[in-house]
Amino acid sequence: PIEVKKIVCIGAGYVGGPTCAVVALKCPHIQVTIVDVNQSRIDAWNDPDFNLPIYEPGLVDVVKGCRGRNLFFSTEVDKGIAEADLIFVSVNTPTKKSGLGAGFAADLNYIELATRRIAEVSTSSKIVVEKSTVPCRTAESMRTILEANAKPGCRFDILSNPEFLAEGTAIEDLFAPDRVLIGSLQSQEGLDACAALANVYANWIPKERILTVGLWSSELSKLAANAMLAQRISSVNMLSAICEATGANVDEVAYAVGKDSRVGPKFLKASVGFGGSCFQKYSLNLVYLARSLNLEEVARYWYAVVEANDYQKNRFAKKVVDTLFNTITGKKIAVLGFAFKADTGDTRESPAIDLINHFLSERARVTVYDPEVQESQIMLDLTDYGAKPAEPIQKAVTVCPSALEACKGADAIVVVTEWKEFVNLDWQSIHDTMNKPAFIFDGRNILKRQELKNIGFKVVSIGTGDRL
Ligand code: NAD
Ligand code: UDX
Repeated sequence: PIEVKKIVCIGAGYVGGPTCAVVALKCPHIQVTIVDVNQSRIDAWNDPDFNLPIYEPGLVDVVKGCRGRNLFFSTEVDKGIAEADLIFVSVNTPTKKSGLGAGFAADLNYIELATRRIAEVSTSSKIVVEKSTVPCRTAESMRTILEANAKPGCRFDILSNPEFLAEGTAIEDLFAPDRVLIGSLQSQEGLDACAALANVYANWIPKERILTVGLWSSELSKLAANAMLAQRISSVNMLSAICEATGANVDEVAYAVGKDSRVGPKFLKASVGFGGSCFQKYSLNLVYLARSLNLEEVARYWYAVVEANDYQKNRFAKKVVDTLFNTITGKKIAVLGFAFKADTGDTRESPAIDLINHFLSERARVTVYDPEVQESQIMLDLTDYGAKPAEPIQKAVTVCPSALEACKGADAIVVVTEWKEFVNLDWQSIHDTMNKPAFIFDGRNILKRQELKNIGFKVVSIGTGDRL
């Protein structure tokens, strides 16, 4: 079997960083180098005080355990590639903004650039692992590019090894994944490469959790897993609308449904809508794939998952306005949480962005507090990275250092992210400072509804027909 001694990971982001740091921790005999073209990101990974570029519980301890031992962060991409015998490609694959498939298809430019770089600087054979999430048959394109540009004597074996970690629990997920999926060509060389990568994971993952399949199945499984999780949330959110109209309680419904072992209890929490860099993107990738295969009904099915999510976000924003006597002009709305979920500082596709945009279009004043998101990031998101003029947004939005500060004098509080600290705030003191009637919109159904009502709050939750 091929023995992997040196690994390089191209892309030091949310996936490449934590994934390969865990590989280094669990495999002290393998040298792992994570490279990126982004100097400030690499500097942060090398920060002497461990102020790492991403916030993820447990990550600092992993990096402390092996940085400088067998884990290195560097901008020397070419050197990293040249030395490695296995290369993880973990670059970003955003949705295309223009051209064919704009708004749906994945932009594979970064993958192609990284692939061409690998072909150009490699002087020995490599196993190239597609870690980024990519449309089906991308491995085929990578192989064509590599083979067309390979130096004499260099062979490239391509594997697909999609990553299933969720942000906020990345380290837990990487330590004990439900499964690791490796796709390869079913040729002898492909199977050998697959075995080499499986042996790396076998250093800490039980063999029965390492699944090996064909390349295309592996690529499609990643899109499918994400789209099916997104579909579960959209399903429960669409039930939440029925609950609100009938007086049923969506948490009770989800509990009852989830008790069926065929359905299972996880990922059935109704919410203001899902966010994050993955669910919407991969559902749309699947829609695009189906369309390009002329499977219009299939495309429509998966598109409905995304439409339902947009509907849920709009429905919630509209409920805030309706409840505040049909106008929020000049009113102060305190938004608690800006990250797309708890335990991360990531704001990509966060429902908070859409909600605040809605409130601003109704000319409300907005205060925001999030324990992990910086003011500069909030402004980038609200101005759509500079596409909208900053001044009116800066005038209307204030980012606050605490929840208490954000809620002072507010007409309504809107909980968007399920940060634990929001559950046990000093709600009595907050109520005292607010305009009356004091409204709370719990976009995550995490607050203690009865206690808040006892204090005097008017509480609106997701998926309950209860009176205020
Ligand atoms: P990211 O934007 O955080 O990181 C990607 C990094 O790659 C960036 O720092 C960028 O500078 C670097 N990069 C791009 N081209 C490069 C090149 N040619 N050479 C060196 N560095 C280069 O993205 P991410 O969230 O880590 O996602 C990476 C991939 O993993 C994507 O395909 C994503 O869809 C997938 N994924 C993400 C998650 C998640 O939770 N974020 C989970 C599973 C899979
Ligand atoms: C997701 C997948 O879970 C992971 O396997 C994949 O590798 C990347 O995409 P991530 O987006 O990081 O991970 O977080 P996830 O926990 O899946 O949450 C996504 C969104 O759904 C968040 O906005 C979350 O708040 C929301 N959500 C999740 C719900 O609204 N209800 C739920 O029951 C679960």
